[in-house]
Parts: sequence; C-alpha cells; structure tokens
Amino acid sequence: MCLTFILSNCAVHHEGATNYGYRREMSSDVARKPIRKAVFPVAGLGTRFLPATKAIPKEMLPIIDRPLIQYAVDEAREAGIEQLIFVTGRGKTAIVEHFDTAYELEHTMSGRGKALEVLDPTRIQPGNLVTVRQQVPMGLGHAIWCARAVVGDEPFAIFLPDEMMVGNAGGKGGCMKQMVDAYNEVGGNLISVLEVPQEEVSSYGVIAPGKRVSDALTEVTGLVEKPKREDAPSNLIISGRYILQPEVMRVLEKQSAGAGGEIQLTDAMAQMIGQQPFHAVTFGGKRYDCGSKVGFVEATLALALQREDMADEVRAMAKRLLAEG
Ligand code: UTP
Repeated sequence: MCLTFILSNCAVHHEGATNYGYRREMSSDVARKPIRKAVFPVAGLGTRFLPATKAIPKEMLPIIDRPLIQYAVDEAREAGIEQLIFVTGRGKTAIVEHFDTAYELEHTMSGRGKALEVLDPTRIQPGNLVTVRQQVPMGLGHAIWCARAVVGDEPFAIFLPDEMMVGNAGGKGGCMKQMVDAYNEVGGNLISVLEVPQEEVSSYGVIAPGKRVSDALTEVTGLVEKPKREDAPSNLIISGRYILQPEVMRVLEKQSAGAGGEIQLTDAMAQMIGQQPFHAVTFGGKRYDCGSKVGFVEATLALALQREDMADEVRAMAKRLLAEG
C-alpha cells in the first residue's frame, strides 16, 4: 500500500523527526513535486439555490460579471496551476462551454468593433482542460476519486468553486498562492482553514491542530467532518482549498459513506495523517460561502464595493436601502 512508503523510507530516529515519526526533509523528494494540476468538483446538485440551479450549474452563478468557476480558475492560475480537471455531471456542460472559444460571439463582437479582452480569462491553452464525469453525486470524496486517472502520480490542488477566497489587498496573494508557498516550505498535504464561532462548527470539516510551525502554518493531528459542537476538536474549519498527495486516491477507493451518507474527503484525509506531513494554512484574506444564499449576497456586495467602476454607486445604493429599512 502506497501510503506506507514515506514511513518506510523514513529513518524515524534521525534528528528532526516530527511527532508523526517521519522526517520532513526525507519526504521532500516525494512531496515537493510541483503543483501543476487542480481538480474542480462541480458535479453537485446545488439544491440550496433551487430553482435557480435547475438548468444552470451553481458554479455558473455570477458574482457581478464573472461566474463562480471563473474566480476559482483565476486563483489557480495565480498560483501557477495551468492544468484544470473539472469533475462534472448532468446539466453542467455550461461550465465547459464557458472556457471554450465562442466563435460566433467573437466574430460578431469584432465586426462591431468591440474589444475581446473581456473574454481573455475564459481562454484555456488547448489540452489544459480535462473533464471527467461523476455520474451520481455521491459526495465530495467520490467526486475527487473520479479524477484519479487524470491526476495520476502527482500532488494536486482542489478548489471548491462555491467557496470564494479573496486575498487581502497588498497581501500575500490568493488562497492557493499562499498554500503553494507553504507547500514549497513543508511539502506533503495542506488544507486551508479559518476560524468560525464555535456554534457554527457542526456544518463543516474541523481540524485538530497540533504544533504551530509559523503564524499561518499549523500541523494537523486530526480531522472530523460535521462534528457536534461539543465534540469539535477546535473552531478551525476546512475552507475549500486543498493540496493533496496522490495517495489519497487509494484511500478514497476504499472509503465508505460518512456524514450525510456521502463519501467524505475529510474522512480520507484523516487517514493520511500520521502517514505523511499534514498542515493547515490559515488564509490571510476573506472567504465567502457562495454555496449559501446569504454568503452569495455578501460576496456580491463586498466585491462590488471593491470595484472602482461601481463602488461609489453601490455604497450610495446600500446606504439608501439600509435607511429605508
Ligand atoms: P456542496 O455540498 O457545497 O455542493 O459541495 P452541492 O451539493 O452542489 O450544494 P447543495 O448543498 O445541494 O446546495 C461542494 C462542492 O463539491 C461539489 C459541488 O459541485 C460543489 O462545488 N460536489 C459535491 C461534487 O462535485 N459532487 C458531489 O457528489 C458533491
């Protein structure tokens, strides 16, 4: 079983061995392959947005003038990732169309003298977008497993496009950029985490934090999906961005259904802890849960207030609406 290979390659008696029994430097040959591939699971049903998502994928709902999936792809590119793997399902073809060349549109726009730069973010190098199908939405873990043949033997990133991560202005870049920077430091597996009020933990995957490596980097000693508030090991929740080693696919292969009757990625990741380095990155920025209606409205408003072309108007409008009660 491949999961054991880092342990068996490790001299646990060496200086620098962590409390997991592996030596970080020794796993680095395996763990520091660059992150070139990203998996975007987009096969979910989006039931919280029905009826809007009956015929339109949730990931195509726009925040102002870009669909959610575009923000996630932009974040991947900023982190140096170019190979995009979409795990799609029935009714999700619009997501792939969005990244295709719209020949008639471009021809007509050019004929009318309209600039085409607005379409630039939707352009993909031929061959860099691969889709695989998840026939039945059996959970996030199952969706990721559906991408196993394309991921192959490389570490890879995962983006949940309905979680929008916006880096602080003048900060360290987007969430995946910050994670790739951390990966270059420690290798292995990383998840992005953020703090929530304790009463909210039961809706999320929660980490048990271990040793603090730096301000933003903490070892992970355990993971639990949707714990009861009183059982939660912390109030640090997993927030939609991951860098995982390919061995997780072999764990997922044998994974049975967990919380909500779904095959949970969190359960598979929990089994990797102790076998490979596992760290949490506290994202320096803001996360909007666009899978929920309130989070979606918040993201729309927050981004509009950051846009030079509309911030003043939107601020005035918000003030007026608030005054009207
Ligand atoms: P969510 O649970 O937030 O999305 O999954 P959902 O199931 O589409 O939404 P609701 O709860 O019914 O409103 C997070 C991400 O994982 C994908 C979703 O498309 C979303 O991007 N996902 C989820 C899959 O690809 N397959 C699944 O089986 C489940």
